Amino acid sequence: MATWNLSETQHHILICNGSSCNKAGAEELTQSIRNEIAAKGLDTLIHTSRTLCNGRCQDKCVLITYPDGNWYKEMSSEDAPRLIESLITGNEIEDKISHSYNGKCFERTEGTVKGIEKEGEIVKRVSKQL
Ligand code: FES
Repeated sequence: MATWNLSETQHHILICNGSSCNKAGAEELTQSIRNEIAAKGLDTLIHTSRTLCNGRCQDKCVLITYPDGNWYKEMSSEDAPRLIESLITGNEIEDKISHSYNGKCFERTEGTVKGIEKEGEIVKRVSKQL
């Protein structure tokens, strides 16, 4: 089990490897991103983690970058070079961002599906338990 030294890390990419994203190419996306980072010698600056479902399956393949707090949608392995370039230059790839953090909450971009209200889902789950 690895224990990485993250003292120079500037960006963290969370790559969804949940079921829906995996069916849409999340493994290829993960490998492309990691290969791009290695090819550019950026391993100490950019860290990646696979995650389980992030609850935005409609947007598959989903990934999230920190510290900027951008959620990306419809990502494929072909997007890896420009994603890494965008992190280094600070020029966001706006056509792939589904939600961005404004310091208070996440704002959905135009054309991104709203999704299910969590409050309704929580009431349904609690009702089933009673
Ligand atoms: S499987 Fe990726 S968001 Fe659900």
